[in-house]
Amino acid sequence: MSQRTFTIVKPDSVEKGNFGKIMARLEGEGFKVLAIRKLQLSTRQAEGFYAVHKERPFFPDLVKYMTSGPVFVAALERADAVPHLRSVMGATDPAKADAGTIRKELGESIERNAIHGSDSPENAAIEINFFFPTSELF
Ligand code: CMP
Repeated sequence: MSQRTFTIVKPDSVEKGNFGKIMARLEGEGFKVLAIRKLQLSTRQAEGFYAVHKERPFFPDLVKYMTSGPVFVAALERADAVPHLRSVMGATDPAKADAGTIRKELGESIERNAIHGSDSPENAAIEINFFFPTSELF
């Protein structure tokens, strides 16, 4: 069944000119782009978006990194979008990601790991809603 997920093309990918490559891969995987925007996250936005991680030791660095440069945020749709995006992205740590995954090919470290993807359909809905009103999803 068709499902939605949410992605962030992270600052390392935008900086290195990997945005087009990542989107081509996602479209090639059958994801429809429902909405997309380029922006530089504010500290408040990054803290809000990653609120589930706020007690983790890496939280301050995560917020600092995610606000360090522009990103693309996008709402995506296809069958089994959440698990499929996670398998295409690969493990959080690029060093542990399977060959052929986006993080293995383009990520540098657990922090500069190229791309974010929602971890559940429930969080996908929350994350899409964080950036896009329903009227902007097509
Ligand atoms: P992301 O999918 O965006 O969700 C949370 C992010 O925290 C994760 O990708 C990583 O980039 C980042 N992060 C940094 N350090 C760690 C860590 N030790 N464990 C998990 N995530 C980390």
